[in-house]
Amino acid sequence: MPAQALFPTLVHVARLPERSRATLNRELKREAAQLRDADAAGRRWSARNYPNGYTSYGSLDRLHRMSSTFATLEAKLRRHVLAYARDLGYDLDGRALSMTDCWINVMGRNAAHGLHLHPTSTISGTYYVQVPRGAPGLKFEDPRLDRLMAAPPRRADAGQPWVTVPAVAGQVVLFESWLRHEVPQQRVAAERISVSFNYNWF
Ligand code: NI
Repeated sequence: MPAQALFPTLVHVARLPERSRATLNRELKREAAQLRDADAAGRRWSARNYPNGYTSYGSLDRLHRMSSTFATLEAKLRRHVLAYARDLGYDLDGRALSMTDCWINVMGRNAAHGLHLHPTSTISGTYYVQVPRGAPGLKFEDPRLDRLMAAPPRRADAGQPWVTVPAVAGQVVLFESWLRHEVPQQRVAAERISVSFNYNWF
């Protein structure tokens, strides 16, 4: 084919090993409930900024330093982050890529998380703890969208300027932090639970 794909956008999607993810997800789910009970500041923050859900983003955003369960998740993510960094061609010789933030998200019916990026980080991602049937995935926007000047509409088989990676319990999704994404509105009543995180290099 004479057409070449230049500047591809890499997103890393992988499952944790079955044995470890069952135990880990049980523990994370238990701690999610405990955190929500104990974290009054987070509940207040969520009421203003995350309707129909609870997130510790505004109150407890370094859970990997507070809880051995989240530290275990960090340890299990490590090889994925390094593999992704390798695929991206990052030269980490003499540098460290470290988790800086880690928080939990519990979405109830009608919760949503609008388009955003993580402007002070290098790699961001989400690990899925519990995903009820019909819960939304992670929707990425084509980073070239603001450059599509005078572009005709595309044929249906050419895809759309967004891609949704389904949310799957036990699965991790990593992306470069500049890539805009959202979680569309959740329409099912059962809770969708995930852990989100940022990495930076030092
Ligand atoms: Ni995000």
